[in-house]
Amino acid sequence: MKTLIGIKIIITVFALSFVFVSDYARQTESKSDKKWWKEAVVYQIYPRSFKDSNGDGVGDLQGIISKLDYVKSLGIDAVWLNPIYASPNDDNGYDISDYRDIMKEFGTMADFDVMLSEMHKRGIRLIMDLVVNHSSDEHKWFKESRKSRTNPYRDYYHWWPAEKGKPAFRPSYFDEEGSAWRYDSITNAYYLHYFSRKQPDLNWENPKVRQEVYSIMKFWFDKGVDGFRMDVIPFISKDTSFPVITPDMLKKYTGGWAEYYADGPHLHEYLKEMRREVLDKYPDVMALGEGAGVTLANAHKFVDADRKELDMFFHFDAVGLGLSPKGYKLPDDKGWSLVDLKKVYTKWSDVFAQKGWGSIYLGNHDQPRMVSRWGNDDPAYREASAKMLFTFLLSMRATPYVYYGDELGMTNIRFNNISDYRDIETLNWYKLLKSKGEDISVYLKGWQLTARDNGRTPFQWDAGTNAGFSTSLPWIKINPDYITVNEHLQENDPQSILNYFRKMIHVRKGNKILVYGDYKLLDKDNPQVYAFTRGSGSNRVLVLLNFSKETVVWNIPDDLKLSSHILINNYPELKTFGHAVSLNAYQAICVELK
Ligand code: GLC
Ligand code: CA
Repeated sequence: MKTLIGIKIIITVFALSFVFVSDYARQTESKSDKKWWKEAVVYQIYPRSFKDSNGDGVGDLQGIISKLDYVKSLGIDAVWLNPIYASPNDDNGYDISDYRDIMKEFGTMADFDVMLSEMHKRGIRLIMDLVVNHSSDEHKWFKESRKSRTNPYRDYYHWWPAEKGKPAFRPSYFDEEGSAWRYDSITNAYYLHYFSRKQPDLNWENPKVRQEVYSIMKFWFDKGVDGFRMDVIPFISKDTSFPVITPDMLKKYTGGWAEYYADGPHLHEYLKEMRREVLDKYPDVMALGEGAGVTLANAHKFVDADRKELDMFFHFDAVGLGLSPKGYKLPDDKGWSLVDLKKVYTKWSDVFAQKGWGSIYLGNHDQPRMVSRWGNDDPAYREASAKMLFTFLLSMRATPYVYYGDELGMTNIRFNNISDYRDIETLNWYKLLKSKGEDISVYLKGWQLTARDNGRTPFQWDAGTNAGFSTSLPWIKINPDYITVNEHLQENDPQSILNYFRKMIHVRKGNKILVYGDYKLLDKDNPQVYAFTRGSGSNRVLVLLNFSKETVVWNIPDDLKLSSHILINNYPELKTFGHAVSLNAYQAICVELK
């Protein structure tokens, strides 16, 4: 695409800059600084639901090992694995009772070692989940901590002595009564838990706790893991006076409590310390934060290379689109609008245009299925819209994360009964909302669109018993659509979502401007079409995505000339009329510009 002369000029400029730049300038980040984790496509595996090897209905490490050729065949570079550490499973592994052991249901450390080496053999890197804002209440540290006020582990957690009265309210994400403080009679004190009662928050203000975390990280890095996805990492630092937080104080935080929780006094100090003491010692690893509560305004503090903290984080701005301000993931009646979605992804692309780096995801274990949430899971549109969403995900300027099963266009299971749910979030919200006298049927209906368990049902390998996931009944129901939506069928169909996904990865890999090139939004107010260009000058790609089920005519701006080189198209053809294109329902194309 680039002329020879163009290449020559660029090389010359580069060479010159090398001669003349000062050491300082050389160290500062350039927007095209290359890193493996910027170019990678990451595949997320929810181990409980991927593949069961021993017939107990729960996915496990041997199951993952048995499917690594499949994982490799996707063309992905790295796997992010949800927690597999020892855990009583109050929150499916996000409550860890031993950071150096494997959950019994998932296998043994020997299985882990085999899994890691089999991944590396195939050129797949492994990103582990690091859950250190809190541990399980069954962790040795907490068991000790709660024994007495003088126990050596007492300060590993946040305690509020009851003789000081009740601590000022702060909300918990999961607690069935809503409060993040739980009274513990043994020592007549309250402990802090931003998530469930069985997930007490670790006290990062205690240097010993930080050293414990760093040593856990080194343990896994020494085994050869390639990075961490750090669970709610912005929440780690707390103002330990635990002041009364007035609505006025919260006004500063447009995103409410999450933003407050993500703004602890020593957060960045600790992230820098972690970089110095651990990450710097393992130069090729990747540090990804779950950026709960992180705003555009402070985004750079986390990821600019010269800050020496994280490499990238997940933002949360899109996940709330179309949800009611009442909370509890209740959808609002209007749904979400494409114009708003474009705004979110554009600002999160633009914020890192010169410095820092972003990530992008459309589904994960905390979200419903991608196609049900952002596409259209009506069988008439499921395939086209899933392909369209992958075209989007894999053509943006950010590292893409793909959630297991989305590559098949797996859909929300839409439970009718609370008894079908397994997720503590849904189960405890149910109790809480009931106790408040809310009309629970409204929530039950809403959660068919938004609940986390929609995205946690077993991977659909084939149309056989239990979808090929297990020889016995799985821990959570299988989506009945597995008869038509499964890997086996799609493997053999060149037009399947699965094969389109592979092709789109190939397109991204073969066109580095889809990784590093500039992003420019076009036609921002168009309510049906998401159009943008990647790259600059004579080296540009136009991405056109019809997010609607209508056929839409899109006028090509005068300054854009489409070449005949279409990189990908989820329909057999692209209809053009003069200076317009007609896009079918959920049609997606990437085309080079002249
Ligand atoms: C993160 C995880 C979520 C978990 C929570 C508490 O948001 O992604 O699954 O429930 O933290 O650890
Ligand atoms: Ca099993």
